[in-house]
Amino acid sequence: MTRILVIHGPNLNLLGTREPQIYGTTTLAEIDAALSAQAAAAGVELESVQSNGEGEIIGHIQKARGRCQGILMNAGAYSHSSYAIRDALDAVGLPAVEVHLTNVHRREEFRHKLVTAGATVGQVLGFGPASYTLGLDALLGNLGIKPWRRG
Ligand code: DQA
Repeated sequence: MTRILVIHGPNLNLLGTREPQIYGTTTLAEIDAALSAQAAAAGVELESVQSNGEGEIIGHIQKARGRCQGILMNAGAYSHSSYAIRDALDAVGLPAVEVHLTNVHRREEFRHKLVTAGATVGQVLGFGPASYTLGLDALLGNLGIKPWRRG
């Protein structure tokens, strides 16, 4: 069965209470529940991890090789700075889709650069929690999987 790894980066464990005027009030558990339902409908397995550490995120990406067929990732602020996470994505060579709750291009200048984006198939940003479900849809499409399955 196709397995997708979902990676939530630093501070995303605080979703729901973290700067709700920017990130909304949806919790990470609610986002994961929506992704799980979507994955089940498509007949794929989903594995979700959250980490506040750069090295740990790199470990998750490395371990996905041979176990997972694609990666959906919001690396949080590491998206703007981590050449190491980008290298890890390139190293494992799995199709990855990057998502962000907010449209980072409308925010502070330091958020305008996404150093990880160059190692991904594409990015979805600015749609709140829907960025994740749209991103999973895009990743499944890239893998040639229909968003739903009969029976
Ligand atoms: C974020 C945007 C980043 O700039 C920020 O550091 C985050 C969340 C988003 O989902 O909009 O932690 O990745």
